[in-house]
Amino acid sequence: MGQRVLVGLLILATVFMAIAVARAEKVNKSSSGGLFWSSAKEEGDLLRKAEAEESTAALNDKDDFDGGFSSLDGMLQWAIGHSDPSKLKETAQDVERLSLDELKKRQMEIKELMERLKTPSDAQLMQIAIDDLNNSSLALEDRHRALQELLVLVEPIDNANDLHKLGGLAVVIGELNNDDPEIRKTAAWILGKASQNNPVVQKQVLELGALPKLMKMVKASFIEEAIKALYAVSALIRNNLDGQELFYAEAGDLMVQDILSNSSIDIRLRRKSVFLVADLAECQLETRNKAELPFFSNRFFLKSVVDLTASTDLDLQEKALAAIKNLLRLRATDALVFKDFCGLDRALDRMRQQLQQLMVDEDQRDYVVDVESLRREVELIFHGKLDEVTQVPT
Ligand SMILES: *[C@@H]1O[C@H](CO)[C@@H](O)[C@H](O)[C@H]1NC(C)=O
Ligand SMILES: *[C@@H]1O[C@H](CO)[C@@H](O)[C@H](O)[C@H]1NC(C)=O
Ligand SMILES: *[C@@H]1O[C@H](CO)[C@@H](O)[C@H](O)[C@H]1NC(C)=O
Ligand SMILES: *[C@@H]1O[C@H](CO)[C@@H](O)[C@H](O)[C@H]1NC(C)=O
Repeated sequence: MGQRVLVGLLILATVFMAIAVARAEKVNKSSSGGLFWSSAKEEGDLLRKAEAEESTAALNDKDDFDGGFSSLDGMLQWAIGHSDPSKLKETAQDVERLSLDELKKRQMEIKELMERLKTPSDAQLMQIAIDDLNNSSLALEDRHRALQELLVLVEPIDNANDLHKLGGLAVVIGELNNDDPEIRKTAAWILGKASQNNPVVQKQVLELGALPKLMKMVKASFIEEAIKALYAVSALIRNNLDGQELFYAEAGDLMVQDILSNSSIDIRLRRKSVFLVADLAECQLETRNKAELPFFSNRFFLKSVVDLTASTDLDLQEKALAAIKNLLRLRATDALVFKDFCGLDRALDRMRQQLQQLMVDEDQRDYVVDVESLRREVELIFHGKLDEVTQVPT
């Protein structure tokens, strides 16, 4: 038992006495709140005192003792059972010397303490949600609420780390197979949130085998489900080489390429995909000793990224530039493929003109300036890389 809790219980016992005394001293007993300490010897004294002061006292009216802290009865019994009677007697005498205001203040303190003790911890709340989800006869609506609660609870990293210990990851992964698309969506969202920037949870989720399922969900017809699934996939494999290996083994490159090359797919999914490409290429840059993946030199894939620069969505264009920048910096990148097959120089030129026109609009000028400076950076890297391959060896 922690020191804090012991101190709390001591205060509890003290104030318990205070309340009892306050009851005895107060004329209107019914407004003083109710506590009942049947085993205490002091009760008799208090009763006699009260009777002396208030001829109409009716402390034997049991109804009077119902209110207040009855739900904490067990805790009170524990506190009483573990208290030293001589200390309690002393405390009671101290309390009797306090004024009514002081007693009331003590009463407030104990109420606050009890409220705090009653507040369940995050781990307890997670356990309740997990137990609910693990109950196959739970109504859909309640299942949904339990998932929403977990979605909020897994945000702090300590809670995310606790999720597996409580059996939560397996239960949430199970929900990826639910018939209800909203349920599947929220389950994927939770997994993404819990594993974001968290190598511990990434590893746990990967070991539980959720990645292939999530990758299938990226193709879901319910677009919100697809978006949350891609969010989870990205969070799982970000800076995680084991995750990336599995991702490629499950044809993640084709999955991304299909999304990038199909302009009728929801723009949010396309933005997320190209962002993932930039991220994967960056990770590849940082692990130079590893062989570069053929994915990154697949000309059709590269063209689908370059083609995004022709989009009318500035956000998508910017993310495409960031991906191209990282792809160009890879060792195995062939600048001539970017030039001849993907038409990168034309694409960059077209983008420059378009950005110049957009700059007229004051509202988004700052953003356009940022995108233009990224575009110039890509141009410089591209020309540097072209110079390397077109220079005639001496
Ligand atoms: C005393 O108790 C009665 C009910 O028993 C209540 O109506 C009254 O307002 C109380 N008086 C004070 C001063 O709390
Ligand atoms: C499962 O849920 C049903 C319906 O809400 C409930 O009656 C039952 O007690 C729950 N079972 C467990 C083991 O919690
Ligand atoms: C879910 O319920 C089963 C029994 O129905 C139990 O064996 C299992 O441990 C429970 N899992 C969690 C995470 O509570
Ligand atoms: C492009 O995406 C749309 C909408 O998801 C889909 O219906 C269509 O089959 C896709 N086209 C190709 C060529 O994959």
